Amino acid sequence: MKIGTIELDGPVVIGPMAGVTTLAYREFMKGFGAGLTVSEMISDCGIDYKNARTFEYLKTSEKERPVALQLFGSSIESSTKAVKIIEENAEYDILDLNFGCPVPKVTKTGAGSAWLLNPKALGEYAEAIVKTSTKPVTAKIRLGWDDDSINVFEVSHILEKAGIAAIAVHCRTKAQGYSGKARYEAIKGLQDELSIPLIVSGDIFAAEDALRAKQITNCQGIMVARGGLGNPFLVTQINALFRENKILPNPSLSDQVAYAKDLTERLINLKGEYIGVRELRGHLPHFFRSQTGVKAFRIKLATISTKEEIFAVFNSILRSVKE
Ligand SMILES: Cc1cc2nc3c(=O)[nH]c(=O)nc-3n(C[C@H](O)[C@H](O)[C@H](O)COP(=O)(O)O)c2cc1C
Repeated sequence: MKIGTIELDGPVVIGPMAGVTTLAYREFMKGFGAGLTVSEMISDCGIDYKNARTFEYLKTSEKERPVALQLFGSSIESSTKAVKIIEENAEYDILDLNFGCPVPKVTKTGAGSAWLLNPKALGEYAEAIVKTSTKPVTAKIRLGWDDDSINVFEVSHILEKAGIAAIAVHCRTKAQGYSGKARYEAIKGLQDELSIPLIVSGDIFAAEDALRAKQITNCQGIMVARGGLGNPFLVTQINALFRENKILPNPSLSDQVAYAKDLTERLINLKGEYIGVRELRGHLPHFFRSQTGVKAFRIKLATISTKEEIFAVFNSILRSVKE
């Protein structure tokens, strides 16, 4: 898949997740064969006001590239200003625009999926950003605001005309939030109408889901979001299925412990032990969600307070496999 001038190594894109797709997580997922990773969403106002916490989101590394930074905003003026500041302060490859966030705090400002209610304004906004950015600009949308206003085809054509280099579609409406099933059928035929890559998002939890999404939509890219949490090997499995038609077995429990250890080290290195451990509470239980006999360890991992405790739980898990 090629996005503007950026050639990707594989079809899997790690979907942006606020609070999750930190630099540490992106580097970690890159190691499993992700073609592209996307940052947490970054507020244009936070950038314009030079908010220190927002600036933290601009940190990238050579190892993870190509990487996309995702911007959200509700006005051409503040977003174009933010793009210029981002370009001066970050090393990255692609700018992604968020037109899908359903959170009321975001939509009530006119940002995120609120843009889908006004495709004409969305097109003007996208065009202004494309003109300002020196990097390729991509967009992430949903099927529409709700079932009565599905406009994914119309919006995609508007975005392509505005100069957007790839479109990721979360195959749910804003009204659905994250519930119900992702509807790949709703974008059947869209990739064939577009000359830019289409990336499908929603409910990719196994390599077979990715294959089904591709067969239905003929998309060029597959976005892995929640399915990659605690299951990074999913990216490798999708690549193997797409490239060699090979079904790779799921990782063993000790593989999962090794992956969890790797992420633990990376997050603590990036954020320090206090914050890193608190963020790991949201990651580590996922690594053991489909394993039997480890429920007590999973619960413990959601409440741990130190790195030492984490490694003690990992050792107990490994001992429990051997017994
Ligand atoms: C915790 C969480 C945070 C998310 N944050 C963002 C975000 O910042 N920007 C965005 O465009 N999508 C965000 N998403 C949506 C995902 O990128 C993805 O499109 C969605 O979860 C559907 O894919 P899935 O069913 O495979 O998880 C988020 C999803 C989750 C679960």
